[in-house]
Amino acid sequence: MSLEVLDEYKLIDKLEATHELEKEEWIYLLEHQSKEFSEYLFKKSDRVRRENYGTDVFVRGLIEFSNYCKNDCYYCGIRCGNPKADRYRLTEEQILECCKEGYELGFRTFVLQGGEDPHYSDEDICRIIKSIKAKYPDCAVTLSIGEKSYESYKKYYEAGADRYLLRHETANEEHYRKLHPENLSLENRKKCLFNLKEIGYQVGAGFMVGSPYQTKECIADDMIFLHELQPHMVGIGPFITHHDTPFKDKENGTMEETLFLLGLIRLMLPKVLLPSTTALGTIHPLGREYGIQVGANVVMPNLSPVGVRDKYLLYDDKICTGDESAQCKTCLQKRMESIGFNVVTSRGDHKDYKKDIPDRDTKEE
Ligand code: 5AD
Ligand code: FES
Repeated sequence: MSLEVLDEYKLIDKLEATHELEKEEWIYLLEHQSKEFSEYLFKKSDRVRRENYGTDVFVRGLIEFSNYCKNDCYYCGIRCGNPKADRYRLTEEQILECCKEGYELGFRTFVLQGGEDPHYSDEDICRIIKSIKAKYPDCAVTLSIGEKSYESYKKYYEAGADRYLLRHETANEEHYRKLHPENLSLENRKKCLFNLKEIGYQVGAGFMVGSPYQTKECIADDMIFLHELQPHMVGIGPFITHHDTPFKDKENGTMEETLFLLGLIRLMLPKVLLPSTTALGTIHPLGREYGIQVGANVVMPNLSPVGVRDKYLLYDDKICTGDESAQCKTCLQKRMESIGFNVVTSRGDHKDYKKDIPDRDTKEE
């Protein structure tokens, strides 16, 4: 293929029509990001989101239940190598209390997120899932607790977990090595994602935008990997430095690049659930609104007890950690309404989308 004949506008049209690009094409596209070009993309990505989801924005209540982590990822504020992190764990009662509050506010999805905390056995996790499902059978339970064995994932699924979020972080081998210590591998990360899919979860992958050492080639690899995985959800947000990590002097990712990638992901995976993330809202006060406008359709308000929120600090200046943020749901609802969108309080298995996702009630054993 000759690069001379590539035209970034035509590549957007091709992506919209075929939902797939070659690696060289991705790189070319990414290298031509500009304000004017982004406008062209966003018109299309907004239209595709509207065709599939209208102006509905799904909410998922995020419960950050432990900030202990056995891993030492160089970018993350709760890495085990950060002795300054003020560690906490929520009790099962506290978790259920979060769900109770969330349910009353209209949440029908609870996302249990934590560091990779060996304190919890599989039985503990299963017990927590079962008690949430027993009290709130009409709710979806999403786990985001890192890399586990096939058997563990299977046990959680059988206990009632519906979805699993595990960002792949980067699909480029060399880049992966620069973000993680020796004991972690991209191979295992990918394996986990395929295992989760095989078991029947609705799966979320994703990566940070502008993480240290990320090149256009890395992002091209991310897009190609996402296309191969065909996840139900893709979480992306800008990398933001944390002052007590090895990457404390690195630069943050940008809002512009994050929005550009959100638009591209919407064209590549038209029906995907695409959150406008807290990190995007952290680098710009209107970041989450812009994310929705360019094609995202999910927001994840914080449901964690206010007293622990400022301890789940993956990066500096994270929003929604102060007393004034007790009701992120209301805040986000207002923000979404201000741009002509409406927050929907269903489980968020979209009617058209539903045929593409495993339905645990009808799935054969
Ligand atoms: N900046 C932005 N995102 C981060 N994450 C972890 N550390 C940072 C950071 N410094 C993201 C990772 C992880 C998710 C829970 O948060 O992608 O998967
Ligand atoms: Fe948390 Fe606005 S979303 S305070």
